[in-house]
Amino acid sequence: MTSVLVLNGPNLGRLGSREPDVYGSGTLDDLKARLEEEAPKGLTIDLRQTDDEAELIGWLHEAVDTATPVILNPAAFTHYSYALRDAASLVTKAGLLLIEVHISNPHAREEFRHTSVISAVATGVIAGFGFDSYSLALDLVARRLG
Ligand code: DQA
Repeated sequence: MTSVLVLNGPNLGRLGSREPDVYGSGTLDDLKARLEEEAPKGLTIDLRQTDDEAELIGWLHEAVDTATPVILNPAAFTHYSYALRDAASLVTKAGLLLIEVHISNPHAREEFRHTSVISAVATGVIAGFGFDSYSLALDLVARRLG
C-alpha cells in the first residue's frame, strides 16, 4: 500500500469557520473524506495539520525517509519560511513529488501573498481551485505513481 502525505500548515485546522468567503465552508475532515473517496485503490491518504513549523518540517523529513510523495499546503509559511523551503527541497532532491497547493489564489490577494519561498523547490503548484486544488494534486500523484 502506497501512501501520500497531505500536509497542512497553520490555521488550516480552522477551515469551515475561517473566512468562508475565501476558503469555503468545508472542514479539514470534509477534505480528508473527499480525498479518501477519490484516491485510487492502493493509495492511502495520510492527512495532517499543524500550526507548528518544526512539526511540519519533521513530517517532510519523514517523507524523505519513507520515500512518500507530498501534497503540501504551507499556508502562511508559504510566504516566509526558509526553513520549510529547505525541508521541501530535501523532498524533491530525493526525487519525490512535492506539490504545493493553495485553496485560494494567493496572487489575487494581498501583496505579501504573491511571494512563495516554496514554489521554486516544489515539483509544481496548484492554487485557486478550493478543495479541487488538492484533488488535482492527488490525481497527479496517482498518475506519476502509475
Ligand atoms: C493558503 C493561502 C495563504 O496565503 C494563507 O496564509 C493560508 C491559506 C490557501 O490555501 O489559500 O493560510 O495557503
